[in-house]
Amino acid sequence: MDNSNSFSVVHNGIIENYQELKEFLISNGYHFLSQTDTEIIPNLIHYYYTKTTENTDKLLNAVHLACKDLKGSYAIEVICKDYPDTMIVARKDSPLVIGVGSEENYISSDIPAILSYTKNFYLLNDGDLAKLSKDAISFYDANLSPISKELKSIEWDVFACEKDGYEDFMLKEIYEQPKSVRETIGSRLKKNEKVNFDDIGFTKETLEKFNKIYLVACGTAMHAGLAVKPILEKLCHIPVIVDIASEFRYREPLIDKNTLCIFISQSGETADTIAALKLSKNEGATTIAISNVIGSSITREADFTIYTHAGPEIAVASTKAYTSQITLLTLLALYFAEVLECVPVEIVNNIKEELLLLPEKISEVLKDSSKVKEFAHKVYTEKDMFFLGRGTDYAVAMEASLKLKEISYIHSEAYAAGELKHGPIALIENGVTVIGILTDPYLVEKSVSNLQEVITRGAKTLVITNQELNTANYDEVINIPNTNSLISPILSVIPLQLFSYYISKEKGLDVDKPRNLAKSVTVE
Ligand code: F6R
Repeated sequence: MDNSNSFSVVHNGIIENYQELKEFLISNGYHFLSQTDTEIIPNLIHYYYTKTTENTDKLLNAVHLACKDLKGSYAIEVICKDYPDTMIVARKDSPLVIGVGSEENYISSDIPAILSYTKNFYLLNDGDLAKLSKDAISFYDANLSPISKELKSIEWDVFACEKDGYEDFMLKEIYEQPKSVRETIGSRLKKNEKVNFDDIGFTKETLEKFNKIYLVACGTAMHAGLAVKPILEKLCHIPVIVDIASEFRYREPLIDKNTLCIFISQSGETADTIAALKLSKNEGATTIAISNVIGSSITREADFTIYTHAGPEIAVASTKAYTSQITLLTLLALYFAEVLECVPVEIVNNIKEELLLLPEKISEVLKDSSKVKEFAHKVYTEKDMFFLGRGTDYAVAMEASLKLKEISYIHSEAYAAGELKHGPIALIENGVTVIGILTDPYLVEKSVSNLQEVITRGAKTLVITNQELNTANYDEVINIPNTNSLISPILSVIPLQLFSYYISKEKGLDVDKPRNLAKSVTVE
């Protein structure tokens, strides 16, 4: 609230120049009760409100003037004593949606939060403002000129945003993966047909022009990029660079009009990923956004958008979004391969057939989680764990390690198994837990000997595999169905998602809302 208790503000984001604005307000007689950046906003609005001589739309004008002074990111909602029926909202670099009801309207940072009240939404663009009452909404651009907006209907099922009998959203979302992967495949891939990306419609000439592909994202979405790098390179013969968005955006990456940049984001609101996208567009690259949220900010910036259609993901730890991202990028790689005609048709067809079988195979993996649960029970008090793999198994190792850290608070590291003897093996001692992922027939022998090295040093081992191994060597072996090793991450990650889940449960932690983490990271 402001000093006069007339204005109340809710703010999501960070005001970067708040110190400067605070000093300005203090020099004008304002005082502050908190250290927050948010507190300057209602006071700044009060400042402009009392200065303005206009009588019409005084509140809207004051909010607009205040927003012009704010640097950083914000989605704000403002109410004022003098306008009891009005609410003003504004956004820049933070998500904000307006839900339309009957005799009532809603604002939220995210669609699922209000999906049980309405399926009709307006989405604000950066710099937009809106004035709401219970039965009217008007929109304004950054210059306060009135604008019109299209009402969007969101197809998500409200039950998809509820736990549906599961103890936690994360568990529900893990078990939804046969369905979410099937939805991602959708009508893009049908038996004996070419992969359909008419919505992108790249010609052979366009694809041949690209001399490199960047996959840019954060966290789990970046791990999805790592998992598909091998298949994209193999099927398209174009070098693929996977980059962390927060590194990419500050590194002056080598991109130009011959670069294809693909940005992966479940929420579509991740500040660093959006900034990386804007930078690539400025450098003339062709940009594709991969998102799970219809109309999210990233989809409004990119040249092309493709949706994962995994359904709402509520748990902070991403599970079904990851497998859908890999599925969608695999489809894209297959599509590129069919347009470019640079690999034998049999290779492409084999992956297409295997991809169509994945929903069934995921169900098989999910049928019995007892071994994972038991192993989680054995090791949940540990302080450190290691995940090892080669090729796509290494990408899964990284994702599994992130999952474990974020929801169980156990420190873990993922290593390419071949790197072990270049340093990390010094950390292996009696009783330490090592998890091996072995799904690539060409690399299995190598990984087996790496695991032997840790077993010799006393490690406890859990192995996820679709290969025939001498199981007596390991403390626990989880067998998963066989598939083409280029798409095996979609299967091999699942026992490891469950592993983190059960460890978190054993420790009595809040699985869906781990400490210090947010579902959408809308600030850098
Ligand atoms: C981990 C996790 C995060 C997100 C990352 C990117 O489980 O959820 O690492 O993957 O914050 O988020 P999006 O995909 O929304 O850009």
